Amino acid sequence: MTHPNPDNPTFSPRRLYLDNAATSFPKPRTVTDAMVRYATQLGASAGRGAYQEAIETGALIHECRRRLNRLLNGEKAEHFVFTLNCSDALNLAIKGLIDPARQPAHAICTHIDHNSILRPLNELESRGWISQTQVPVDSATGLVDPDDIRRAIRPETKLVAITHASNVTGTVQPIREIGRICRERAVPFIVDAAQSVGHLPIDVRADCIDLLAAPGHKALLGPLGTGFLYIRPGLEKSLRTLREGGTGSVSELATQPDFMPDKYEPGSHNAIGIIGLSEGVKWVLEQGIETLHAHEMDLVHLPRRRLRHRRPHLLRPPGRTKPHRRIRHPHRRV
Ligand SMILES: Cc1ncc(COP(=O)(O)O)c(C=O)c1O
Repeated sequence: MTHPNPDNPTFSPRRLYLDNAATSFPKPRTVTDAMVRYATQLGASAGRGAYQEAIETGALIHECRRRLNRLLNGEKAEHFVFTLNCSDALNLAIKGLIDPARQPAHAICTHIDHNSILRPLNELESRGWISQTQVPVDSATGLVDPDDIRRAIRPETKLVAITHASNVTGTVQPIREIGRICRERAVPFIVDAAQSVGHLPIDVRADCIDLLAAPGHKALLGPLGTGFLYIRPGLEKSLRTLREGGTGSVSELATQPDFMPDKYEPGSHNAIGIIGLSEGVKWVLEQGIETLHAHEMDLVHLPRRRLRHRRPHLLRPPGRTKPHRRIRHPHRRV
């Protein structure tokens, strides 16, 4: 469901947009204004020059990290690294924790995780680098029992990865309980917050999250092509890089810098996207997660209330005589 956004002239009143779980629309006016300002007045690459526009671009990108750090109660802004999207962040989290040279390695997820967790794990398994346990969920509620996660942990378990809120059923998993179990057993805990960040309160410290992957383009109201990974301070010592390259820092070094965030951000940034995302996060911070959540619940309950006494009218595409029976979700194996 969309956030209230009366003041953005890019909003098309003729379109009823219901695809916010894929990517949000419309964006707040401040998001598009910041992107236009970058495109028309700054146009520089952060960390690649000592002139004013490059310095300001770097400062704006850092401001986005600071806002994410505030939203999620992180320890340090530079422990939020920018990625292409949530899938990209999950690939870094999952594959960065698995070192093929250190065997045996085991990973835990659930049956109903998103493909952006299942596919990287299946790929690692098919290469023979890991074995995995897909913990079942309750068939009525879709919830995983944290004790089942506890029982699945083995001495060689290298990670537990969980989709916080399901894009299929809306089930919200008990990440704090799972996080505590993982912390007790010293197993890194990865959370896919694609459908929860910006919708639900998340506190990476209280929830014992080691790595949190999220898109910038859904409830944080940034543009497509943005995402991030939170890396708990200390974990960067063991999280391997998936890509190396220029960072604009310590260029005399032949190897990737080992400091944050440069270690995981080779190549020029998506400055225009991150600057837009920063304004989206600011908007979310200003509204407050509780207010936004209450508004979304109203939007969910409104059609329920109105439809209660009406006979449903089934829609069919032109030329079809029968309505669609089954909806296949594009992200899931059915
Ligand atoms: C639960 C969940 N995880 C991960 C993703 C992947 O997000 P992205 O498209 O930003 O890679 C999605 C996308 O819809 C999702 O719903």
